[in-house]
Amino acid sequence: MNILFVASEAHPLIKTGGLGDVAGYLPPALSKSGASVCVAIPGYTEVLEKIPGFKPLDRYHIDGFSVDIIESRLPNSDVKLWVVCCPQLFEREGGPYQDDEGRDWPDNALRFGVFAKVIVAITQNWIELDWPVDLVHCNDWQTGLIPALLKLQTKAPATLFTIHNLAYQGLFPYHDFARLQLPPHLWTHHALEFHEQLSFLKGGLVFADRINTVSPSYAEEIQTREFGCGLDGLLRYRSEALSGILNGADTQQWNPATDAYLASTYNKSTLTKKAINKLALQALFELPQDKTIPLFSVVTRLTQQKGIDLILDAIPMLQNTSLQFAILGTGDKRLELRLRNCARKHRDRFAIKLAYNESWAHLAIAGADAFLMPSRFEPCGLTQLYSLRYGTIPVVHAVGGLMDTVIDASADNLAAKKANGVQYKKDTAKSLVRAIQQTLKLYDDKPVWKSMQRAAMQQDFSWPTAAEQYMALYKQILSGN
Ligand code: ADP
Ligand code: GLC
Repeated sequence: MNILFVASEAHPLIKTGGLGDVAGYLPPALSKSGASVCVAIPGYTEVLEKIPGFKPLDRYHIDGFSVDIIESRLPNSDVKLWVVCCPQLFEREGGPYQDDEGRDWPDNALRFGVFAKVIVAITQNWIELDWPVDLVHCNDWQTGLIPALLKLQTKAPATLFTIHNLAYQGLFPYHDFARLQLPPHLWTHHALEFHEQLSFLKGGLVFADRINTVSPSYAEEIQTREFGCGLDGLLRYRSEALSGILNGADTQQWNPATDAYLASTYNKSTLTKKAINKLALQALFELPQDKTIPLFSVVTRLTQQKGIDLILDAIPMLQNTSLQFAILGTGDKRLELRLRNCARKHRDRFAIKLAYNESWAHLAIAGADAFLMPSRFEPCGLTQLYSLRYGTIPVVHAVGGLMDTVIDASADNLAAKKANGVQYKKDTAKSLVRAIQQTLKLYDDKPVWKSMQRAAMQQDFSWPTAAEQYMALYKQILSGN
């Protein structure tokens, strides 16, 4: 079974969030499960710097651009990697989707439109890589045109479209539809048009043979008005083709017993050493160094989705409570400003680092007592999975993947020694405050806290489990069921 796994980022070559983790860790797990997998990503400057010295396999001309395909390996794996190089579209200073100021690249439709056309050309062997593709596994809007364009071919591989985040839809004006010379019959609300705009995401949702998302609960939620981002009707229409598969956590990169980013490694039996990381985290964030003060951390993209504003609103309500916050994130400039102001006002308890830093992310997850995720919606969430592995108790809004992966500290779950986190239901700062207060009570009861930490560290959300489910889904699709 030849699977072409297409994504706009893949760790450790390029990553802005969880999609990068998935594209970096799932394909090697699929390969271990018996699939022959090749990953395709765009050749951003950052990617090319990490895989220098490779000769292009084949050159292709499309829409006035000249494209080279470079073959390499996904680092730390035997998975084949094809990098789609087009200097005019992908080689520039800045992120994969935005410039350094956080503005979307104005030519994103062209960038990912051409990328999609190149993938189609690979599957048709117009670019002669001589690798017959059985199934193209597409991820998020950047790959959404692929299933739509493949439907125009007489002989095409099967397609799976994974939704990592329905809120990002790749919406562009009609002008881009015309610039990409897409067939006029696709300009209808039954195809790529969404309220008079071109929707890349709809290409995946309408035309892929099967659709999945990254947790069973999110697969249900997106079929409702509240979480459907205007696409719930379409998703209900396709509900037979839609399922949910939970992401995994990479057990090598995220392992407290071997993690080189930590001040001290530890495991279930040496949990006291976790406190060394707490002191290191407090030092890094310039918080008072004290093992006894409960420390909550956050590692996130700063967007509306992640509910960071709720934490800011909660701070005044927690004024007389002894606790500390360490927040690592980048993103929305207004949120960054609000975080800076809050940190200035509450120096000894609220500290921030507005940066994207892999090593700090590991320390923030290992060193904290609890990990906050007040997300408004969360398709899966990986950081709560990492926190569980590190015995750091996740405190989460009960939505999507958070609901599916965190076992709430209810009386029953505590009695059964299954509880490994705290869930709260209402999307308000008040509910968040109550959840934090409940967490503090649990923290004060040392035997209970320890038992929750142990339960957390025993959880198994690994990529091999997810890979088995994807393999079963691929087989179903290929057998036409
Ligand atoms: P999302 O994909 O919505 O951003 P996830 O929880 O699925 O959320 O994945 C986020 C990934 O990005 C995790 O691997 C997390 O460690 C990483 N990450 C997010 N923000 C930062 C940051 N500021 N520095 C380092 N890593 C970060
Ligand atoms: C998205 C989601 C996140 C998920 C990640 C990987 O960015 O926001 O919940 O874990 O993709 O699937």
